[in-house]
Amino acid sequence: MFPKALLFAGFAAAVQAVSFTVKSSGGNATSPYAYGLMFEDINNSGDGGVYAELIQNRAFQGNPIFPKSTVYWHPIGSTTLALSNDSTPLSSALTSSLEVSGGNGSSVGMYNDGFWGFPAVASWEYKGSFWVKGNFNGNLSVTLQGNYSNSVYAEASVNVASKADAWTQYKYTFQPTHDAPNANNTLHFTWDAACASGPLNFNLLSLFPPTYKNRENGNRVDLMEAMDGLKPSFFRAPGGNNVEGLQPPYWWNWTNTLGPLEDRAGFPGTWGYENTDGLGLIEYMLWAQDLGMEPLLAVWSGLWLNGTSLTLEELQPYIQSALDELEFLMGDASTPWGAKREALGYGPFPIKFVEVGNEDSLSKGGPTYRAYRFKAFYDAISAAYPDITIIASFYDVDDTTGTPTYNASGDFHEYAIPQQMSSQFGYFDNYTSEHPILIGEYAVIEYDTFNKSGPEWYSGAPRALYPFWYGSVAEAIFLLGAERNSDKIIGSSYAPSFQNYNRWEWIPDLIQYDAYPGNTVLSTSYYMIQLLSNTRITENLPTTEATLGPAYWVAGRSDVTGSHILKAAVYNSTGSVPFDVNFEGVGAYANGKLTYLTAPMNASSTIGNNVVKTTTENVRADGQGKFCFSLPEYSVAVFEVTAENCGQGYHYGSKNSRRGWKGWKNWSKGSKPNWNQWGQGYW
Ligand SMILES: *[C@@H]1O[C@H](CO)[C@@H](O)[C@H](O)[C@H]1NC(C)=O
Ligand SMILES: *[C@@H]1O[C@H](CO)[C@@H](O)[C@H](O)[C@H]1NC(C)=O
Ligand SMILES: *[C@@H]1O[C@H](CO)[C@@H](O)[C@H](O)[C@H]1NC(C)=O
Ligand SMILES: *[C@@H]1O[C@H](CO)[C@@H](O)[C@H](O)[C@H]1NC(C)=O
Ligand SMILES: *[C@@H]1O[C@H](CO)[C@@H](O)[C@H](O)[C@H]1NC(C)=O
Ligand SMILES: *[C@@H]1O[C@H](CO)[C@@H](O)[C@H](O)[C@H]1NC(C)=O
Ligand SMILES: *[C@@H]1O[C@H](CO)[C@@H](O)[C@H](O)[C@H]1NC(C)=O
Ligand SMILES: *[C@@H]1O[C@H](CO)[C@@H](O)[C@H](O)[C@H]1NC(C)=O
Ligand SMILES: *[C@@H]1O[C@H](CO)[C@@H](O)[C@H](O)[C@H]1NC(C)=O
Ligand SMILES: *[C@@H]1O[C@H](CO)[C@@H](O)[C@H](O)[C@H]1NC(C)=O
Ligand SMILES: *[C@@H]1O[C@H](CO)[C@@H](O)[C@H](O)[C@H]1NC(C)=O
Ligand SMILES: *[C@@H]1O[C@H](CO)[C@@H](O)[C@H](O)[C@H]1NC(C)=O
Repeated sequence: MFPKALLFAGFAAAVQAVSFTVKSSGGNATSPYAYGLMFEDINNSGDGGVYAELIQNRAFQGNPIFPKSTVYWHPIGSTTLALSNDSTPLSSALTSSLEVSGGNGSSVGMYNDGFWGFPAVASWEYKGSFWVKGNFNGNLSVTLQGNYSNSVYAEASVNVASKADAWTQYKYTFQPTHDAPNANNTLHFTWDAACASGPLNFNLLSLFPPTYKNRENGNRVDLMEAMDGLKPSFFRAPGGNNVEGLQPPYWWNWTNTLGPLEDRAGFPGTWGYENTDGLGLIEYMLWAQDLGMEPLLAVWSGLWLNGTSLTLEELQPYIQSALDELEFLMGDASTPWGAKREALGYGPFPIKFVEVGNEDSLSKGGPTYRAYRFKAFYDAISAAYPDITIIASFYDVDDTTGTPTYNASGDFHEYAIPQQMSSQFGYFDNYTSEHPILIGEYAVIEYDTFNKSGPEWYSGAPRALYPFWYGSVAEAIFLLGAERNSDKIIGSSYAPSFQNYNRWEWIPDLIQYDAYPGNTVLSTSYYMIQLLSNTRITENLPTTEATLGPAYWVAGRSDVTGSHILKAAVYNSTGSVPFDVNFEGVGAYANGKLTYLTAPMNASSTIGNNVVKTTTENVRADGQGKFCFSLPEYSVAVFEVTAENCGQGYHYGSKNSRRGWKGWKNWSKGSKPNWNQWGQGYW
């Protein structure tokens, strides 16, 4: 026989129950906490990624860093393809084209590889266009076909009558007759050699699948839907490194990303390839608008990634450019730049947050940023737009001598191993609410390995290819710690967002994809964020027991839904953790809904295999209003008692019917910066 006491002791050592009451008042964090998105134009969120363009190298853009070429284009029927530097270019921005000469027979031309293939989906109507110059009279056919098969999925015939000295644009549409099993397809432009005399030049050859909300020049539907699933509140754009430049004179000059695609020359991106700038400033704003996200606009701060900073004097045109950008986005038609936006057909895009640069502490930028670069932008922008929250591009929570030194917010980034991130539940507890910060980038990027205290760049461990479950739970602990300090933190965005399976620059990323829509994978961290983000707390509430692990939690209420909410994570607990939870104000026999996520500790999701399991349970309070449930080891949970299910307790349905809770801050109006207002309107 086993002594009962021993059995119990053994059990208790492994599994410690937590028991606490969520108070109905006394919380000191009353700002809503925001979950958002961070965009980085890493292979390949631009063309062929979120931006839905399917043809790679569509306009033969380039510069000394990434020279122009005909790469991704191949001859058909013995033609010769060459890059032509046109004496009569399509536009002053697109000065080179693809020259197709020679070849004979009834089917000559060229084909494009796409972004590692093209999707062929029978329910999609594709829209294409191209410009051509040269003597041609006849039909040109555009076909989407298998690269390793004779399958033709879609075909359009375009009647072309073009002249040697003039550029003419043609449009086409087609719809595949059947689905392709994968993306191993190419796009062919062919014609009968007899229809042409002399070489033909092509430029801006484009093909779009259906786009999200049918936006012209828009974004890929499935990736936008995936982002929408996170209910993101803000959007840091146009990125981190993407807003910078590799070296003088290149930087993300927004004026070159506006208007017709013919006017966009492109820009040598910071991630090893040329950006077409098809995804321009307006497209970023529409992206934010379409997903209901508050845009958090990043402006270039005068630091190149190769370590060159501008002097204060040299900075002036770039400060003016940032002011012009804000006028372009927000000014009315009576302002010079506002008029230009109106002329493009768009009303104002209100901006409440501006970040000055990206990670200016790196690339030898810290001293100049601290000495004058940040101040110069801060003074100019806050003078013109006193209501805008200005964010310094770095902030070390541990280093109080760092930025922000003004009435500014800072952007805190953290890439860590699980050991580190899982120990940071209390990381923001001592931080001030005077200058709320943004957690603009965070991610667990490696597995814990023996004898390590930091990520790869300190210790040389291999990087994780994809987010993995115990890393995602470690991130949840960090996020819950931030969320319970929501008056000190604007919000958080995992970074980066996207990874193309064929080419990437940085791992791990939140969402993986390739040209075949069936291959999109929502990572373990995606599901963790989705769970925490979809239920929002607007008022944090204290609990009677401290959370020291292996269970971690934040509790509060929502004045939007009237719900009482508990969010929790269990980490490294050697078993399930029983919870006994009361909510002051929630009565006997109330009903709550528990949703929790689990997965094998080391697992990552891959194509067709989502390792994250979602469990939902109804949990009914006992006669004392106590809810009892258990959370498994390595789990992330949300427990919600909605207003209509709170039993004999209070009904917190609206601000006016809130009883016994204090701390609601009036986020209304005011033209002066008011740090208490920062939660306004973005959750
Ligand atoms: C066209 O210009 C590019 C530089 O933009 C150069 O590399 C290339 O050799 C030129 N091609 C021809 C055919 O002159
Ligand atoms: C067709 O092209 C091939 C290869 O370029 C060449 O050998 C042949 O002479 C051409 N035929 C005609 C009729 O032009
Ligand atoms: C098409 O086939 C060629 C040759 O096998 C290969 O190099 C290329 O990557 C393939 N492209 C696609 C989109 O499948
Ligand atoms: C082009 O195609 C149309 C039908 O699609 C046909 O009527 C016409 O004759 C063709 N033109 C040439 C020059 O082959
Ligand atoms: C086609 O693409 C898939 C991935 O989508 C790849 O695994 C497969 O090998 C490709 N087929 C051929 C014939 O190369
Ligand atoms: C950065 O590149 C420019 C050339 O574009 C060069 O003049 C400058 O010296 C470089 N800066 C550093 C710090 O290497
Ligand atoms: C940005 O580009 C525009 C158009 O090419 C140019 O006029 C402007 O001077 C550039 N801005 C700066 C600050 O260099
Ligand atoms: C910050 O704001 C406070 C009042 O809210 C003001 O007294 C102070 O001068 C401001 N500091 C700067 C650097 O603008
Ligand atoms: C916060 O301050 C307390 C008291 O000074 C200290 O014990 C604790 O370690 C601090 N926490 C952090 C994360 O710095
Ligand atoms: C206020 O927040 C701090 C952490 O930021 C916490 O230590 C303290 O217990 C909170 N006070 C109440 C009453 O919740
Ligand atoms: C990024 O994508 C471009 C094409 O858009 C490709 O040429 C380049 O090789 C990729 N870079 C890396 C590092 O994969
Ligand atoms: C779990 O806890 C044990 C014992 O404290 C520790 O050795 C181990 O590293 C922890 N594992 C993780 C993933 O944190």
